[in-house]
Amino acid sequence: MDDSTPKKPYRSSVQLQFAAYFFLLTVVLLALLNTYPLRASRDVVFSEKESALMSRASVLSSSLSLMETLTEDNTRQVLSLLDTTGLERVLVTDPEGVPLYDTNDEDAASPTEVKTALRGKAAFRSRFDMTAFDSGAAVPVRNSGHTIGAVYILEHDADQAELIVSIQHRLGTISLVAALLALVIIIFSIRMMTRRITMLADGVRTVQSGDYSFRLKLTGNDELTELGSELNHLTERLETTEAERRRFVSDASHELKTPLASIRLLSDSIVQSEGMDAATMREFVTDIGAEAERLQRTTEKLLNLSRRDDGVQGDVQDVDLKDAVDGTRRLLEPLAQASSVTVETDLAEGCVVRATEDDIYHIVFNLVENAIKYNLPMGKVLVKTAREGGRCRLIVEDTGIGIPEADRPNVFTRFYRVDKARSREHGGSGLGLSIVHDAVKLYGGEITVEGVEPHGTRFVVDFPAAGEN
Ligand SMILES: Nc1ncnc2c1ncn2[C@@H]1O[C@H](COP(=O)(O)OP(=O)(O)OP(=O)(O)O)[C@@H](O)[C@H]1O
Ligand SMILES: [Mg+2]
Repeated sequence: MDDSTPKKPYRSSVQLQFAAYFFLLTVVLLALLNTYPLRASRDVVFSEKESALMSRASVLSSSLSLMETLTEDNTRQVLSLLDTTGLERVLVTDPEGVPLYDTNDEDAASPTEVKTALRGKAAFRSRFDMTAFDSGAAVPVRNSGHTIGAVYILEHDADQAELIVSIQHRLGTISLVAALLALVIIIFSIRMMTRRITMLADGVRTVQSGDYSFRLKLTGNDELTELGSELNHLTERLETTEAERRRFVSDASHELKTPLASIRLLSDSIVQSEGMDAATMREFVTDIGAEAERLQRTTEKLLNLSRRDDGVQGDVQDVDLKDAVDGTRRLLEPLAQASSVTVETDLAEGCVVRATEDDIYHIVFNLVENAIKYNLPMGKVLVKTAREGGRCRLIVEDTGIGIPEADRPNVFTRFYRVDKARSREHGGSGLGLSIVHDAVKLYGGEITVEGVEPHGTRFVVDFPAAGEN
């Protein structure tokens, strides 16, 4: 994509939205990474401290419980024999909570844990303030079932705190680097993605401006590639349709131009040749009438085609192919006789199709008319209908001039005529079979054309039978 193209506001907003979502996700993940391990390791230290301090306090308590009553002297004596290293404070109180021994010189108040211990329950509390763990444990001192005092020990641990804080700092640094890296990756991948979306949007605009030869160059193998390939298919169809439309307009103008030019020529001749005898004049006027009739037929067929492009016109009902063939045969009998062609029918019962009567009539009429028009003197036309399972089949076969194999795929194209001169001779416009084709397709049918040995043509139309589709 060319970067000089002015940026559309929606592009940046899509980028921004994606970036915001991804970044928010990253931030949430990193926040979890930063808080959860810290909390978990702090809790581990808390429970370690609890079991260690409780067992140390219990050792002191059980040594002191050998005394009947606790005094300042016997307490000091017992404690001097015990290991109290690493403890910030050791406090022993009598049953009323009066300190008997306290390593804390200042006259500090007894912690609440001591009161709990004097009520007979061990108590523990630990605090972490980012610089140290301050943990205190208190246990009652019992002698013969009586609480004779309480032991309270306090530990100040800066090492563990330092370890946890350093882990947190490290996690913080890693998170910052990860966040920056994520941001770079997010921006890069979103740019890549929006660039492809922009390419697609530009492609749509190019096609919209009328350049149907445009095709997107597809890379990758994801949903955007799929979307691009759908756009290419759509453009291809638009290109075909547009080419067909142009050809149709040019063919139609050409078809209308020829009879109009003849009319003009004939009328000019009448006007310019003074004293034209009545017989010649009548001949010229008859020709003008014939050309006008041809114009009328062509325009009627064009109108029929254009109405058909808008879908089914008229009442859809059950139409018996037998009735349609019988009616058409009667109508075309004069033409058949004039061409010395015999029309035979072999009609099955129950070949009923859901369609409009007009459309079925057009289909049968055009096929049988062609079979007579493009036949040879003393030729034959056989019209057959048959019911095969859920399908109704109409076969129109003749012993006529036939259609060369190379022309067969084109006979359903508008204005296509194998032998222009012969078709014109019969006043044909080359629209009959395209009307037939479109009508057959409209009702979910199929039409095929094949050659007949030694010469002739067979058209086979296959419809879904009424009640089957
Ligand atoms: N049964 C047939 N045998 C030989 N050629 C045929 C037969 N049916 C159609 N064709 C050829 O196919 C061409 C197209 O037929 P189509 O019915 O579309 O047009 P048309 O008969 O020339 O004109 P229209 O039907 O519009 O009056 C004809 O011009 C003719 O050359
Ligand atoms: Mg025809």
